[in-house]
Amino acid sequence: MPVSASNRGIPDPNQPLPEGAVKASAVRSMFDAIAPRYDLVNRIMTFRLDVAWRRRTVRRLDLPSGSVVLDLACGTGDLCRDLHRAAMTPVGMDLSWGMLVAARTEAPLVHADALHLPVATGSADGVTCGFALRNLTGLEPFFAELARALRPGGRIAILEVDRPRNRLLRFGHAAYFGRVVPFIGGLLSNRDAYRYLPRSVAYLPPEDDLLAVIRAAGFVDVAKERCSGGIAQLLTATRV
Ligand SMILES: C[S@@+](CC[C@H](N)C(=O)[O-])C[C@H]1O[C@@H](n2cnc3c(N)ncnc32)[C@H](O)[C@@H]1O
Repeated sequence: MPVSASNRGIPDPNQPLPEGAVKASAVRSMFDAIAPRYDLVNRIMTFRLDVAWRRRTVRRLDLPSGSVVLDLACGTGDLCRDLHRAAMTPVGMDLSWGMLVAARTEAPLVHADALHLPVATGSADGVTCGFALRNLTGLEPFFAELARALRPGGRIAILEVDRPRNRLLRFGHAAYFGRVVPFIGGLLSNRDAYRYLPRSVAYLPPEDDLLAVIRAAGFVDVAKERCSGGIAQLLTATRV
């Protein structure tokens, strides 16, 4: 089994990446374990770039004030706070109790799986999701569930890490995420978790395939924006 029983269920960095139910359980245990220091490590390892990326995510939703936006895999609630600042009405949902307990937001929080949303069909104006695509057990079911939850014309803005296209940047980025991030994570939080997180980028399909999955789920105006030299990506689309 590719999870380490000795490390609170966090994936063993020396084993192949987990899949299916094993992955879902490992992801949940991992975020429960790193929740208390998640924000601190995030800010340090991205040099606070994550703050600007989330604000851009909310702007790209391009929805009017008062819009009801589901922030899926909300974690500690950063995007919920940005949505509030933009006068929208966020509802945060996450599978990790640890992350929900550590959340700092006025938004209502729901313990829910992003693949099975506890909302009526066509009831949401928008969906945001930050840095969680690679943690899900399936992308097709995820985007199909977003299409179900959104009203026609509803918007999605999905933020995720990425690998730069430029070879030099790609090399530096791989070294930073493969070595420096686990080191910082080990000092402040859990080393195995911060070894797993960079490896988990391998779950993401190639760009064209990912955009095709979103289109096939019932979205138009599907676009990808590269952030900060391509170390993060912002996917946006409109529900047909
Ligand atoms: C890297 S954190 C991102 C948290 C937050 N969105 C942010 O921008 O910082 C990934 C989050 O995805 C959550 N998650 C993973 N799989 C999930 C699922 N199937 N349903 C809901 N949340 C999930 C984890 O519990 C964790 O809080």
